[in-house]
Amino acid sequence: MELFYVSILCLFVLLVSLSLHFLFFYKLNLKPKNLPPGKTGWPVVGESFQYLAAGWKGQPEKFIFDRIVKYSSYIYKTNLMREPTVVFCGAPAHKFLFSNENKLVQSWWPSSVDKIFPSSTQTSSKEEAIKMRKMLPNFFKPEALHRYIGIMDNIAQRHFEADWDNKDQIVVFPLSKRYTFWLACRVFVSMEETKDVDRFLERFNLLAEGLLSIPVDLPGTPFRRAINAAAVIRTELVGIIKQRKVDLAEGKASPTQDIMSHMLLTADEDGKFMKEYDIADKILGLLVGGHDTASSACAFIVKYLAELPEIYQGVYDEQMEIAKSKGEGELLNWEDIQKMKYSWNVACEVLRLAPPLQGAFRDVLTDFMYQGFSIPKGWKIYWSAHSTHKNPEYFPDPYKFNPSRFEGTGPAPYTFVPFGGGPRMCPGKEYARLEILVFVHNLVKRYKWEKLIPDEKIVVNPMPVPEKGLPIRLFPLKA
Ligand code: HEM
Repeated sequence: MELFYVSILCLFVLLVSLSLHFLFFYKLNLKPKNLPPGKTGWPVVGESFQYLAAGWKGQPEKFIFDRIVKYSSYIYKTNLMREPTVVFCGAPAHKFLFSNENKLVQSWWPSSVDKIFPSSTQTSSKEEAIKMRKMLPNFFKPEALHRYIGIMDNIAQRHFEADWDNKDQIVVFPLSKRYTFWLACRVFVSMEETKDVDRFLERFNLLAEGLLSIPVDLPGTPFRRAINAAAVIRTELVGIIKQRKVDLAEGKASPTQDIMSHMLLTADEDGKFMKEYDIADKILGLLVGGHDTASSACAFIVKYLAELPEIYQGVYDEQMEIAKSKGEGELLNWEDIQKMKYSWNVACEVLRLAPPLQGAFRDVLTDFMYQGFSIPKGWKIYWSAHSTHKNPEYFPDPYKFNPSRFEGTGPAPYTFVPFGGGPRMCPGKEYARLEILVFVHNLVKRYKWEKLIPDEKIVVNPMPVPEKGLPIRLFPLKA
């Protein structure tokens, strides 16, 4: 009986969607002229399934390149996330998009994100992102981050001692997540007790699952669990913020000890300070956005170094040179990071081949023309890192792992975009560079390793991960 009602409901939704599609685009002749080539797929769901399926098969670029070939065009229309969308491919398209932020286009997130991260001022995630954008650079600029390198090294050492040492085999992905999350908890809110961090991580995993789920807000759905988890974390964070205010007033906490102090003490252009609830929300967003991306990069470095012994050797030589220059117990510092040039080239090559974020959306603010095609107001634009990263025009033999691509002046502008570009470029880029390099230093100093599943499948959902989490056998190196 239930099945009968569900079928009727599906049929009804399909009919209504088809009618609206027909009415708007054909009957009322509202179909914009000269749209880019391409198919918008099924009503409502569009080509979302094809896009997701390419990722599940570990070939997210297939969706992008199949259509470039099919339509002989570097821009084409489709329908993703239930939105009519134009995919912008290639370096000139990236340049155009990143240079027109807030003029022709603006960053866009699905409305479900607002449900998980509502702000007390009832503004949208878009407006909140702009506020956050203004506040972050001071905290995340390289000079300000210098002071955290020693802290990162300390956390990395404790991470390897707790989770890797004295083990024959480990599964990398959950551990790299634990490392980046622990670090984020320390640098953002000065939380470093592992029991507190693990408790937080459990809730964050629920939140992350919900963000990726179908946004149905009913009891028991992953989406509802994510909303609840976010509420619990937010309440806990507000408690920590209240205590921090007291500690700052009594001189027991430092204004520069973490991002929480920074947010409490930084006013906006109108001289207003952020409310406790909003600070909690911003930190929540940073913890979510910041740790999953970098942990994917760390896990893929482990994978590629296992597969490519000559690359491992290059990284090992560079890191041991630094390690030998340090005194007993001396932590890494800014000068050491500057010496890690080859290791960073290797990390960049990993970010090129397995970008943690595949791309991002923009909302079209006004009708405009691009390459002779009209792009209607209200449509979405999607830019994809793969459209340049895996393109032989920009990276010859694109599937070959070759860190020398990043030597000298490196790749041409707008071709290497794992962190995006323009005003919305990832503000955590430098922080991510430091945490990845500190991870690599501590990793190769301690071990060699081999993969336990030689051809483990990669799944992109929405971040790339080895299907079984990348199990490896460890061979500790003599100290
Ligand atoms: C390897 C690690 C990382 C990668 C590959 C990465 C990549 C990206 C990309 C592609 C964007 C979207 C740009 C766009 O909309 O065009 C972005 C946005 C953002 N990232 Fe990262 N990210 C990383 C690490 C981090 C970290 C560690 C943090 C925080 C500490 C962070 C915070 C943010 C924030 C707040 C935004 C939104 C910026 C805005 O909308 O203006 N990211 N990141």
